Amino acid sequence: MLGASAQRISEDRRVLEREILPSFARRSDAHRVLFVGCAAYTQRYGELFVDREYWTIDPVPRRRLYGSERHIVDRLENLANHVEPEYFDVIICNGVLGWGLNSPDDAEAAFAACRQHLRAGGELVVGWNDVAPRNRVKPEDISALRRFEPSGCEHGQQSRIRIDAPHRHVFDFYRKR
Ligand SMILES: C[S@@+](CC[C@H](N)C(=O)[O-])C[C@H]1O[C@@H](n2cnc3c(N)ncnc32)[C@H](O)[C@@H]1O
Repeated sequence: MLGASAQRISEDRRVLEREILPSFARRSDAHRVLFVGCAAYTQRYGELFVDREYWTIDPVPRRRLYGSERHIVDRLENLANHVEPEYFDVIICNGVLGWGLNSPDDAEAAFAACRQHLRAGGELVVGWNDVAPRNRVKPEDISALRRFEPSGCEHGQQSRIRIDAPHRHVFDFYRKR
């Protein structure tokens, strides 16, 4: 479990840090993990994946500070410049759609790249805020996401978790067919 100093206090952060990330960390089929978008409060997430290949990516050079040993300075859309197709078992993209990934074209390119770089059966988690203006591009409107099938996190296997709080955070779970 992550130390308290690493944590932001909100229900969506609790769900991410205490439920979603640990559920992948427990799985033997989640060896290569990519976490998208880095901040001070995400820098300890790699501790959950010490015996795995834990990668991070962020286009802002100074955010390398918060990334893992295997860190990419680039946009998610450009993943093909850094890793082979079908490389990852899991990609977690939380708080990026609507927070930098703002146009339909960029969102299409980013999630197409996720699909290209996940193995068959690999899983993608998209965390986003269903509140304006963060929800100007919704997952439902992104055709690249429709090419996945719904998946579920360990708890109840729901493919969507909605957090009943002001930021209206949503976690969507996808699996590459
Ligand atoms: C609100 S923060 C979210 C950080 C973290 N993922 C989280 O769980 O809170 C958004 C981060 O996404 C990064 N970002 C924005 N556009 C991106 C893109 N196209 N590809 C990868 N990262 C991006 C930003 O630089 C920023 O660090």
